[in-house]
Amino acid sequence: MDLKSLIRNIPDFPKPGIVFRDITTLLRDREGLRFAIDAMAQTCQAWEPEFIVGMESRGFMFGVPLAYQLGVGFIPVRKPGKLPADCHSVEYELEYGSDRLDMHKDALDPGHRVVVVDDLIATGGTAKATADLLERAGAHVAGFCFAVELRELGGREKLPSNVPIVSLVQY
Ligand code: PRP
Ligand code: ADE
Repeated sequence: MDLKSLIRNIPDFPKPGIVFRDITTLLRDREGLRFAIDAMAQTCQAWEPEFIVGMESRGFMFGVPLAYQLGVGFIPVRKPGKLPADCHSVEYELEYGSDRLDMHKDALDPGHRVVVVDDLIATGGTAKATADLLERAGAHVAGFCFAVELRELGGREKLPSNVPIVSLVQY
C-alpha cells in the first residue's frame, strides 16, 4: 500500500518554511490505518518487546494499537506535569528553548525490553530524550519504530548506533 499518498502535506505549518506531514489523513483511512499498524507489528515483533513506549501525543495514536496487536503493555512518555505519580524526567533542546519529557518511575524495571514508537522522527530530539529516560530506568531499548522519517534532519544519527531504527515512510 502507498502510505505516503495517505499523508497530507501542509506547507508553512506551524510556521513558514515547514512542510507539515499530517498523519490524520492516514489514521482516518481504515485500510491505511490497519496496514500501518500491521507493518509496524511485523517489524517490532522480531524485537520481542515486553512493552511499547510511545510519546505524547501522536506517538499514542500508533503506540497503543501496536501494543494491542502485539499483546504487550503500553507506557506513555508525557509532556511536563501530566503524569500523576513519581517520574523520571529529561530536559531536551528545541529550536528555541527547551522542553521536558516525563515517564513514571514504576512503569519499568531494569532490564525490561521495550520498543519506542512515535508517528514521526524529525530532528530526533524527542526520540533521544525518550532513550535517555529509558536509560535512566535501566530498560533495554530493542528498537525504534516511526511511521514517518524526515531524513534530511538526521534524527537517526542522534540515536544509539547499536539499536535498529525502522520507519514506514521517508521524506
Ligand atoms: C512531533 C512528533 C514527534 C516529534 C518529532 O510531536 O509527533 O514526537 O514532534 O520531532 P523531533 O524529532 O524534532 O523531536 P510534537 O512535539 O509536535 O507533539 P504532538 O505529538 O503532541 O503533536
Ligand atoms: N514534527 C516535527 N516536524 C514535523 C513535520 N514536518 N510534520 C509533522 N510533524 C512534525
